[in-house]
Amino acid sequence: MRQRVNGTEIAFDLYGEVGRPWVVLVHGFPFARAYWDGQVAALRDRYRVLTWDLRGLGESAMGPLPQPLEAYVDDLFGLMEALGVERPALVGLSMGGYIALRAVERAPQRFRALVLCDTRSAPDDDAGKLARAAGIKALHASGREEFLAAMLPKLFHDPASPAARGLLALMHRNDPAAMANALAAMQGRTDTTPALASFALPTLVLVGRDDTLTPPALSESLAARIPGAELAILDGAGHCSNLEAPEAFNAALATFLDRVISH
Ligand code: MLT
Repeated sequence: MRQRVNGTEIAFDLYGEVGRPWVVLVHGFPFARAYWDGQVAALRDRYRVLTWDLRGLGESAMGPLPQPLEAYVDDLFGLMEALGVERPALVGLSMGGYIALRAVERAPQRFRALVLCDTRSAPDDDAGKLARAAGIKALHASGREEFLAAMLPKLFHDPASPAARGLLALMHRNDPAAMANALAAMQGRTDTTPALASFALPTLVLVGRDDTLTPPALSESLAARIPGAELAILDGAGHCSNLEAPEAFNAALATFLDRVISH
């Protein structure tokens, strides 16, 4: 389905019965809403689930360039308003986590719970900013092929697995210009760390033990800064922890949601 949000067509899917508690899933970079298929299957019997493509990725339009991270947060709020999504549990992985952290910083009252997966609150340091610049240059110079080939080993504990190959195919459908925009958006994102101490939502922090992009130490400090937050470290998983350890990921997610929002 499509919804016009902030002047752009955003592609989304809804699952589960109307009236059930809402769960909104925000994917990472450079994925698309199908990234969450395994979690949709685990949640749709008990929850009303929204998945959507970040602008420019999947089937969502990009809109005029450039678009900062704040635009993706605006899209989340716009989509929630247009679809009547009330106080969802907000689940974000990696870039989706950056969007979720900023959304909760901006409007905590709009949410009922928060799940932060393989992400961080700090902005890019100078080395990170320069790596983004190199990525943008590579995408402009030679398209997505080489960029994605270099990225895949950073996303998975086992980059030769069927899950990794499946994600590579999904990523290959994305437009290099929109991918470059997302890199620039992440490069310019704000630091949400100072806000964490005031977060009051039930929060679960999930991370793959072998995540090298956002290592477990970052998730430990994220969970330690958010009052009452729980932490789950998933064995046998890298950055895309929901794809590499789906059973453990879904069990941790469902146990948390069933406790904090199912009533
Ligand atoms: C993601 O998975 O969303 C990205 O790897 C995050 C990042 O590059 O910071």
